[in-house]
Amino acid sequence: MLEIDDLSLAVPMQNTLTQAVSHVSLTIKPGRVMGLVGESGCGKTLTAQSILRLGEYQGITKVSGDIRLHNESIFSMSEKQLRKMRGGKIAMIFQEPMTALNPVFSIASQMLEVIGLHLNLNRRDARLHAIQLLEDVGLQDAQYLLQQYPDALSGGMRQRVLIAMAMSANPEYIIADEPTTALDVSVQKRIIALLRKLQQEKNLGMLLVTHDFGLVAEMCDDVVVMYAGEVVERGAVMDIFNHPAHPYTQALMGCRPEVAKGNQALTVIEGQVPMPGEWPIGCRFAERCPHSQADCQQSPVAVDAWRQGEHIARCVHISIHTQKASEEGV
Ligand SMILES: Nc1ncnc2c1ncn2[C@@H]1O[C@H](COP(=O)(O)OP(=O)(O)O)[C@@H](O)[C@H]1O
Ligand SMILES: [Mg+2]
Repeated sequence: MLEIDDLSLAVPMQNTLTQAVSHVSLTIKPGRVMGLVGESGCGKTLTAQSILRLGEYQGITKVSGDIRLHNESIFSMSEKQLRKMRGGKIAMIFQEPMTALNPVFSIASQMLEVIGLHLNLNRRDARLHAIQLLEDVGLQDAQYLLQQYPDALSGGMRQRVLIAMAMSANPEYIIADEPTTALDVSVQKRIIALLRKLQQEKNLGMLLVTHDFGLVAEMCDDVVVMYAGEVVERGAVMDIFNHPAHPYTQALMGCRPEVAKGNQALTVIEGQVPMPGEWPIGCRFAERCPHSQADCQQSPVAVDAWRQGEHIARCVHISIHTQKASEEGV
């Protein structure tokens, strides 16, 4: 099991550390897909990268909490253990396939480096493994591809290469941070189909960061919604879709990409996500919330202020606005 437990993170802003993720908890079980959704700037990438402790190189600091893989804290791992864990047990697929590949090295040298890090294979077997991995992600003519440099490949092919690299050591978990955002819509569909196929075949646990609720419906078992650095709703995908409880989730679902047209989703909720350091004391969404009441801005709201089994939401007025919505026939 992969558990983020009450994690708070701070980022360097104007020479001080400012909290940017607060008290996030989520658990990804083996073979399950967890969607992490929210507008840009809500702390999704910080949370996802913290699983591999990648943010530390940019001065991102853990304030409190823990992350555990099979009950072992990743914060107590040595550099050597971390290197084995990264890619070996948990692999990451990034948003921007060009920046994740080094333009000055061939595909072969980059793949063989990753394979060499995790598997004890001789050169010939490593090369055969690379070819197999490329074929597994639907790339033809793998022999030829290995000799190419990243800029000779299309965006979709690069993302396939990165997915192949992520799969090279048979990880148990995949962290995919907006894996298709930078790609054309038609290519997005095929990459998603590939991820889905690999996830199912290999029974991977996955954290899928996305702002696309269509994708969440297609791939995820569970959903966590983040707003301004904190979890505002969590539940099984069916519960979130059938009864989105938090006004923020409702607003996000009202501006799904298909609805909002094109790829410019989620800009439709009026106002902006408050920046780290500018979070209000009470409900962080209150100033943008269509159902906001006088008391919403007065004190912090517990993550499970509303609960129905495993479905929880950080809102004290859900009975009011869900009732209103049903009266209006929404
Ligand atoms: N390395 C960093 N240094 C300073 N601020 C950062 C850094 N990374 C992220 N932030 C800030 O933290 C907030 C959350 O960022 P991020 O996790 O990237 O959001 P998301 O992925 O949801 O769009 C943003 O306001 C962003 O500007
Ligand atoms: Mg992000």
